[in-house]
Amino acid sequence: MGDPAATTPANALVLCTEGLSKSFGGLQATRDVSLSLHRNELHAVIGPNGAGKSTLVNLLAGEFTPSAGRILLEGRDITSLNVWQRTRAGVARSFQRTNIFLPLTVHENVRLAAQARTGTLASLLSRAANSRTLFEITDLAIERVGLTQSRLRPSGELSHGEQRQLEIAMTLATDPKVLLLDEPLAGMGQEEGERISALLKSLARDHAVLLIEHDMDFVFKVADVMTVLVEGAVLASGTPQSVRESAAVQAAYLGGHA
Ligand SMILES: Nc1ncnc2c1ncn2[C@@H]1O[C@H](COP(=O)(O)OP(=O)(O)O)[C@@H](O)[C@H]1O
Ligand SMILES: [Mg+2]
Repeated sequence: MGDPAATTPANALVLCTEGLSKSFGGLQATRDVSLSLHRNELHAVIGPNGAGKSTLVNLLAGEFTPSAGRILLEGRDITSLNVWQRTRAGVARSFQRTNIFLPLTVHENVRLAAQARTGTLASLLSRAANSRTLFEITDLAIERVGLTQSRLRPSGELSHGEQRQLEIAMTLATDPKVLLLDEPLAGMGQEEGERISALLKSLARDHAVLLIEHDMDFVFKVADVMTVLVEGAVLASGTPQSVRESAAVQAAYLGGHA
């Protein structure tokens, strides 16, 4: 296996699935899904409730084991890696809800996430230089999501939207190549939603982003590529325009919306 990452162009293929399937007993939640995520690309996955969107994210994040198919990260087969190993390999998921320790400050939470990337606490304490890097990574991630002014606040005091920003900062601290975002705008007020939307757009300028989102106006505006899932299978995939114009998509999902 070569190292395609060494010379990757801006829009290089980062992650792909080949014939990915997942069954829960008799229910096939994911059917033969093959899709590609490229660097600097926002790839939105849409589909009706129960279409298998979250299952796909869980498969990519390593929380579910596929019944069939493969997942490749920069050409390397990562299908058998667990969640933690995938995080280290560069596939990071946000919005797991449980990740934030509410009594800890913003800075402490992000630093803990960064530690997963840089090594154990013991090795950090023994190496001051490493520790400085850890603080730099932490501060950069906090700045990127716009929480610098709140860096010393207990995380439990943050608003719902600010906690989402914190989760994203924690994800960024692991230095991901791929960001998996399952409905990051859910439950946001308008102002918070706009702030997170702007952040998502900015993240897609230097990561491969897989976004699951219900707000169709937003998705059609920001996505570079869209994949439509219906009953676990890919119904259509391509540019927002090609998806909008697809008769199959309109009939099965969008109705009169697009
Ligand atoms: N852990 C699970 N065990 C059993 N069935 C599941 C599990 N997770 C999802 N499913 C089923 O898989 C199908 C797809 O669910 P999901 O991926 O959550 O859809 P979406 O996110 O598109 O709404 C649904 O029928 C759901 O009930
Ligand atoms: Mg879902």
